[in-house]
Amino acid sequence: MKKIKKAIIPAAGLGTRFLPATKSLPKEMLPIVDTPTIQYIVEEAVASGIEEILIITNGNKHSMENHFDVNFELETRLRLSKKEKEAEQIRAIANMANIFYVRQKEPKGLGHAVSCAKSFVGEEPFAVLLGDDLIINKNGKPVLRQLIDVYEQTSSSVIGVQEVKQEDVSKYGVVKPVTQNGRTIEISDFVEKPPVEKAPSRFAVLGRYVLTPAIFEILDNQTPGKGGEIQLTDAIRTLMDREHVYAYDFEGFRYDVGDKFGFVRATIDFALEREDLKENTANYIKELAKKI
Ligand code: UTP
Repeated sequence: MKKIKKAIIPAAGLGTRFLPATKSLPKEMLPIVDTPTIQYIVEEAVASGIEEILIITNGNKHSMENHFDVNFELETRLRLSKKEKEAEQIRAIANMANIFYVRQKEPKGLGHAVSCAKSFVGEEPFAVLLGDDLIINKNGKPVLRQLIDVYEQTSSSVIGVQEVKQEDVSKYGVVKPVTQNGRTIEISDFVEKPPVEKAPSRFAVLGRYVLTPAIFEILDNQTPGKGGEIQLTDAIRTLMDREHVYAYDFEGFRYDVGDKFGFVRATIDFALEREDLKENTANYIKELAKKI
Protein backbone atom coordinates (compact mmCIF):
# COMPACT_ATOMS: atom_id res chain seq x y z
CA MET A 1 0.00 0.00 0.00
CA LYS A 2 1.28 3.47 -0.92
CA LYS A 3 1.58 6.03 1.89
CA ILE A 4 -0.33 9.27 1.61
CA LYS A 5 2.22 12.07 1.38
CA LYS A 6 0.50 14.60 -0.87
CA ALA A 7 -2.50 16.81 -0.30
CA ILE A 8 -4.32 19.30 -2.46
CA ILE A 9 -6.20 22.33 -1.23
CA PRO A 10 -8.64 23.67 -3.84
CA ALA A 11 -8.85 27.41 -3.24
CA ALA A 12 -9.85 28.79 -6.62
CA GLY A 13 -13.57 29.31 -6.03
CA LEU A 14 -15.17 32.71 -6.50
CA GLY A 15 -16.31 33.03 -2.90
CA THR A 16 -19.57 34.70 -3.93
CA ARG A 17 -21.10 34.08 -0.50
CA PHE A 18 -18.48 36.34 1.01
CA LEU A 19 -18.63 39.34 -1.28
CA PRO A 20 -17.59 42.13 -1.15
CA ALA A 21 -14.48 40.96 0.81
CA THR A 22 -13.74 38.31 -1.81
CA LYS A 23 -13.68 40.86 -4.62
CA SER A 24 -9.94 41.23 -4.06
CA LEU A 25 -9.17 38.90 -1.15
CA PRO A 26 -9.33 35.11 -1.44
CA LYS A 27 -11.72 33.77 1.20
CA GLU A 28 -9.02 31.34 2.32
CA MET A 29 -7.01 34.36 3.52
CA LEU A 30 -9.78 35.70 5.74
CA PRO A 31 -8.33 35.56 9.25
CA ILE A 32 -9.94 33.74 12.14
CA VAL A 33 -8.73 36.09 14.88
CA ASP A 34 -5.20 36.64 13.48
CA THR A 35 -4.47 33.58 11.36
CA PRO A 36 -5.69 33.03 7.79
CA THR A 37 -8.01 30.05 7.38
CA ILE A 38 -5.67 28.38 4.93
CA GLN A 39 -2.88 28.33 7.52
CA TYR A 40 -5.05 26.26 9.88
CA ILE A 41 -5.75 23.90 7.00
CA VAL A 42 -2.07 23.54 6.08
CA GLU A 43 -1.34 22.90 9.78
CA GLU A 44 -3.95 20.11 9.82
CA ALA A 45 -2.38 18.51 6.73
CA VAL A 46 1.13 18.67 8.21
CA ALA A 47 -0.07 17.28 11.56
CA SER A 48 -1.66 14.41 9.60
CA GLY A 49 1.68 13.40 8.05
CA ILE A 50 1.41 15.21 4.70
CA GLU A 51 4.76 16.25 3.20
CA GLU A 52 3.79 18.11 0.02
CA ILE A 53 0.81 20.37 -0.57
CA LEU A 54 -0.57 21.72 -3.83
CA ILE A 55 -2.83 24.74 -3.53
CA ILE A 56 -5.16 25.23 -6.51
CA THR A 57 -5.41 28.96 -7.01
CA ASN A 58 -6.79 31.49 -9.44
CA GLY A 59 -5.41 34.81 -10.65
CA ASN A 60 -6.47 36.54 -7.43
CA LYS A 61 -4.43 34.46 -5.03
CA HIS A 62 -1.00 36.13 -4.72
CA SER A 63 -1.60 36.83 -1.05
CA MET A 64 -1.67 33.07 -0.33
CA GLU A 65 1.66 32.52 -2.07
CA ASN A 66 3.17 35.45 -0.17
CA HIS A 67 1.82 34.18 3.14
CA PHE A 68 3.68 30.87 2.85
CA ASP A 69 6.85 32.46 1.46
CA VAL A 70 9.78 34.03 3.32
CA ASN A 71 9.40 37.81 3.84
CA PHE A 72 12.99 38.97 4.42
CA GLU A 73 12.13 42.64 4.63
CA LEU A 74 9.47 42.19 7.31
CA GLU A 75 11.64 39.73 9.24
CA THR A 76 14.61 42.10 9.19
CA ARG A 77 12.49 45.02 10.37
CA LEU A 78 11.01 42.93 13.18
CA ARG A 79 14.46 41.79 14.31
CA LEU A 80 15.79 45.37 14.18
CA SER A 81 12.98 46.46 16.48
CA LYS A 82 13.74 43.52 18.82
CA LYS A 83 10.57 41.64 17.92
CA GLU A 84 12.31 38.27 17.75
CA LYS A 85 9.22 36.25 18.65
CA GLU A 86 7.19 37.75 15.82
CA ALA A 87 10.10 37.31 13.39
CA GLU A 88 10.36 33.62 14.33
CA GLN A 89 6.62 33.23 13.97
CA ILE A 90 6.52 34.51 10.41
CA ARG A 91 9.62 32.49 9.46
CA ALA A 92 7.97 29.31 10.85
CA ILE A 93 5.01 29.75 8.47
CA ALA A 94 7.39 29.68 5.49
CA ASN A 95 8.98 26.47 6.79
CA MET A 96 5.76 24.60 7.54
CA ALA A 97 5.61 22.40 4.43
CA ASN A 98 6.63 22.13 0.80
CA ILE A 99 3.86 24.10 -0.84
CA PHE A 100 3.27 24.26 -4.59
CA TYR A 101 0.69 26.17 -6.59
CA VAL A 102 -1.19 25.61 -9.80
CA ARG A 103 -3.81 27.81 -11.39
CA GLN A 104 -7.29 26.68 -12.27
CA LYS A 105 -7.82 28.91 -15.27
CA GLU A 106 -11.60 29.03 -14.97
CA PRO A 107 -13.80 28.22 -11.96
CA LYS A 108 -15.37 25.13 -13.55
CA GLY A 109 -16.12 23.40 -10.27
CA LEU A 110 -14.46 21.41 -7.51
CA GLY A 111 -13.99 18.32 -9.69
CA HIS A 112 -12.21 20.41 -12.29
CA ALA A 113 -10.05 22.04 -9.58
CA VAL A 114 -9.00 18.58 -8.33
CA SER A 115 -8.19 17.47 -11.90
CA CYS A 116 -5.64 20.33 -12.09
CA ALA A 117 -3.55 18.34 -9.56
CA LYS A 118 -3.13 15.31 -11.83
CA SER A 119 0.56 15.70 -12.68
CA PHE A 120 1.45 16.75 -9.10
CA VAL A 121 -0.19 13.66 -7.64
CA GLY A 122 0.85 11.04 -10.22
CA GLU A 123 -0.07 7.46 -9.38
CA GLU A 124 -0.44 7.85 -5.62
CA PRO A 125 -3.43 8.09 -3.29
CA PHE A 126 -3.79 11.66 -2.03
CA ALA A 127 -5.77 13.89 0.28
CA VAL A 128 -8.10 16.80 -0.49
CA LEU A 129 -8.84 19.51 2.09
CA LEU A 130 -11.28 22.22 1.09
CA GLY A 131 -9.85 25.68 1.63
CA ASP A 132 -12.90 27.03 3.44
CA ASP A 133 -13.78 24.10 5.72
CA LEU A 134 -12.08 24.54 9.04
CA ILE A 135 -12.36 21.42 11.22
CA ILE A 136 -11.12 21.39 14.78
CA ASN A 137 -10.74 18.25 16.87
CA LYS A 138 -9.48 19.70 20.12
CA ASN A 139 -7.02 17.36 21.87
CA GLY A 140 -7.76 14.61 19.35
CA LYS A 141 -6.46 13.37 16.01
CA PRO A 142 -6.71 15.87 13.13
CA VAL A 143 -9.57 14.98 10.82
CA LEU A 144 -7.38 14.21 7.85
CA ARG A 145 -5.32 11.80 10.00
CA GLN A 146 -8.56 9.99 10.94
CA LEU A 147 -9.32 9.51 7.23
CA ILE A 148 -5.77 8.40 6.40
CA ASP A 149 -5.98 5.78 9.17
CA VAL A 150 -9.09 4.33 7.47
CA TYR A 151 -7.32 4.40 4.11
CA GLU A 152 -4.43 2.45 5.69
CA GLN A 153 -6.88 -0.23 6.83
CA THR A 154 -8.92 -0.44 3.63
CA SER A 155 -6.63 0.78 0.78
CA SER A 156 -9.75 2.57 -0.49
CA SER A 157 -10.96 6.13 -0.96
CA VAL A 158 -12.46 7.65 2.19
CA ILE A 159 -14.81 10.63 2.43
CA GLY A 160 -15.19 12.62 5.63
CA VAL A 161 -18.84 12.97 6.70
CA GLN A 162 -20.91 14.12 9.64
CA GLU A 163 -24.64 14.13 10.29
CA VAL A 164 -26.28 17.49 9.63
CA LYS A 165 -29.80 18.69 10.41
CA GLN A 166 -32.46 17.29 8.08
CA GLU A 167 -33.32 20.77 6.79
CA ASP A 168 -29.65 21.35 5.84
CA VAL A 169 -29.02 18.24 3.71
CA SER A 170 -29.80 20.09 0.48
CA LYS A 171 -26.64 22.20 0.96
CA TYR A 172 -24.25 19.24 0.81
CA GLY A 173 -23.20 16.06 -0.94
CA VAL A 174 -24.98 13.28 0.97
CA VAL A 175 -24.01 9.58 1.15
CA LYS A 176 -26.23 6.50 1.19
CA PRO A 177 -24.94 4.16 3.91
CA VAL A 178 -25.13 0.38 3.58
CA THR A 179 -23.34 -0.87 6.69
CA GLN A 180 -21.55 0.86 9.51
CA ASN A 181 -18.61 -0.48 11.53
CA GLY A 182 -17.82 1.99 14.31
CA ARG A 183 -17.37 5.28 12.49
CA THR A 184 -16.52 3.69 9.13
CA ILE A 185 -19.46 3.49 6.76
CA GLU A 186 -19.71 1.44 3.61
CA ILE A 187 -21.71 3.45 1.08
CA SER A 188 -23.62 2.60 -2.08
CA ASP A 189 -24.48 6.04 -3.42
CA PHE A 190 -23.62 9.67 -3.17
CA VAL A 191 -25.85 12.59 -4.20
CA GLU A 192 -24.95 16.26 -4.61
CA LYS A 193 -27.31 18.69 -2.86
CA PRO A 194 -30.43 16.44 -2.79
CA PRO A 195 -33.85 17.93 -2.02
CA VAL A 196 -34.61 17.26 1.69
CA GLU A 197 -37.23 14.58 0.88
CA LYS A 198 -34.87 12.67 -1.44
CA ALA A 199 -31.75 12.69 0.75
CA PRO A 200 -30.48 9.12 1.32
CA SER A 201 -29.27 10.00 4.87
CA ARG A 202 -28.15 12.96 6.96
CA PHE A 203 -24.45 12.11 6.47
CA ALA A 204 -23.04 15.13 4.63
CA VAL A 205 -19.64 15.39 3.00
CA LEU A 206 -17.69 18.08 4.83
CA GLY A 207 -14.49 19.06 3.08
CA ARG A 208 -12.03 16.19 3.62
CA TYR A 209 -11.27 13.32 1.26
CA VAL A 210 -8.67 10.65 0.66
CA LEU A 211 -8.83 9.53 -2.95
CA THR A 212 -7.12 6.95 -5.12
CA PRO A 213 -5.52 8.25 -8.36
CA ALA A 214 -8.19 6.46 -10.44
CA ILE A 215 -10.28 9.60 -9.89
CA PHE A 216 -8.20 11.56 -12.44
CA GLU A 217 -9.11 9.49 -15.47
CA ILE A 218 -12.77 9.74 -14.41
CA LEU A 219 -12.52 13.52 -13.99
CA ASP A 220 -10.95 13.84 -17.45
CA ASN A 221 -14.14 12.41 -18.94
CA GLN A 222 -16.61 13.97 -16.53
CA THR A 223 -19.38 16.08 -18.07
CA PRO A 224 -20.65 19.14 -16.15
CA GLY A 225 -23.28 18.31 -13.53
CA LYS A 226 -25.22 20.47 -11.05
CA GLY A 227 -24.75 24.19 -11.65
CA GLY A 228 -22.94 23.48 -14.94
CA GLU A 229 -19.81 22.60 -12.90
CA ILE A 230 -17.56 19.53 -13.04
CA GLN A 231 -18.58 17.98 -9.73
CA LEU A 232 -16.22 15.89 -7.62
CA THR A 233 -19.30 14.09 -6.28
CA ASP A 234 -20.21 12.80 -9.77
CA ALA A 235 -16.67 11.52 -10.30
CA ILE A 236 -16.66 9.74 -6.90
CA ARG A 237 -19.95 8.07 -7.87
CA THR A 238 -18.27 6.66 -10.97
CA LEU A 239 -15.29 5.63 -8.83
CA MET A 240 -17.70 3.66 -6.62
CA ASP A 241 -18.62 1.48 -9.63
CA ARG A 242 -14.98 0.46 -9.89
CA GLU A 243 -13.61 0.45 -6.33
CA HIS A 244 -14.77 0.43 -2.73
CA VAL A 245 -15.38 3.90 -1.34
CA TYR A 246 -15.93 4.43 2.38
CA ALA A 247 -17.32 7.33 4.36
CA TYR A 248 -15.95 8.13 7.80
CA ASP A 249 -18.01 9.88 10.46
CA PHE A 250 -15.12 11.97 11.74
CA GLU A 251 -14.60 13.44 15.19
CA GLY A 252 -14.30 17.22 15.17
CA PHE A 253 -16.24 20.43 14.79
CA ARG A 254 -16.52 21.92 11.35
CA TYR A 255 -16.87 25.60 10.47
CA ASP A 256 -17.83 26.67 6.95
CA VAL A 257 -15.82 29.86 6.95
CA GLY A 258 -16.87 30.62 3.36
CA ASP A 259 -20.29 31.36 4.85
CA LYS A 260 -20.75 34.62 6.76
CA PHE A 261 -22.32 33.12 9.87
CA GLY A 262 -19.84 30.21 9.86
CA PHE A 263 -17.07 32.79 9.86
CA VAL A 264 -18.56 34.78 12.75
CA ARG A 265 -18.99 31.60 14.79
CA ALA A 266 -15.41 30.50 14.16
CA THR A 267 -14.11 33.92 15.18
CA ILE A 268 -16.01 33.89 18.48
CA ASP A 269 -15.11 30.26 19.32
CA PHE A 270 -11.44 30.75 18.49
CA ALA A 271 -11.26 33.95 20.54
CA LEU A 272 -12.79 32.09 23.50
CA GLU A 273 -10.03 29.45 23.22
CA ARG A 274 -7.19 31.95 23.22
CA GLU A 275 -5.41 32.68 26.51
CA ASP A 276 -4.82 36.30 25.47
CA LEU A 277 -8.42 36.95 24.44
CA LYS A 278 -10.79 34.63 26.24
CA GLU A 279 -11.48 36.76 29.31
CA ASN A 280 -12.25 39.94 27.40
CA THR A 281 -14.31 38.05 24.82
CA ALA A 282 -16.33 36.15 27.43
CA ASN A 283 -17.02 39.33 29.42
CA TYR A 284 -18.11 41.13 26.28
CA ILE A 285 -20.46 38.29 25.28
CA LYS A 286 -22.02 38.26 28.76
CA GLU A 287 -22.61 42.02 28.62
CA LEU A 288 -24.05 41.74 25.15
CA ALA A 289 -26.33 38.86 26.14
CA LYS A 290 -28.04 41.11 28.70
CA LYS A 291 -28.99 43.55 25.93
CA ILE A 292 -30.21 41.16 23.22
P1 UTP B 1 -17.46 26.34 -2.74
O1 UTP B 1 -18.64 26.11 -3.59
O2 UTP B 1 -17.61 26.39 -1.26
O3 UTP B 1 -16.63 27.63 -3.15
O4 UTP B 1 -16.36 25.28 -3.17
P2 UTP B 1 -17.03 28.90 -3.96
O5 UTP B 1 -17.55 28.52 -5.29
O6 UTP B 1 -15.83 29.78 -3.91
O7 UTP B 1 -18.12 29.49 -2.98
P3 UTP B 1 -19.36 30.44 -3.23
O8 UTP B 1 -20.51 29.50 -3.20
O9 UTP B 1 -19.13 31.13 -4.57
O10 UTP B 1 -19.35 31.39 -2.08
C1 UTP B 1 -15.67 24.44 -2.25
C2 UTP B 1 -14.17 24.58 -2.41
O11 UTP B 1 -13.76 24.30 -3.74
C3 UTP B 1 -13.00 25.35 -4.26
C4 UTP B 1 -13.35 26.58 -3.42
O12 UTP B 1 -12.26 27.49 -3.38
C5 UTP B 1 -13.65 25.97 -2.07
O13 UTP B 1 -12.49 25.83 -1.28
N1 UTP B 1 -13.34 25.52 -5.71
C6 UTP B 1 -14.63 25.59 -6.10
C7 UTP B 1 -12.32 25.61 -6.63
O14 UTP B 1 -11.11 25.56 -6.26
N2 UTP B 1 -12.64 25.78 -7.94
C8 UTP B 1 -13.91 25.85 -8.38
O15 UTP B 1 -14.12 25.98 -9.61
C9 UTP B 1 -14.95 25.76 -7.43
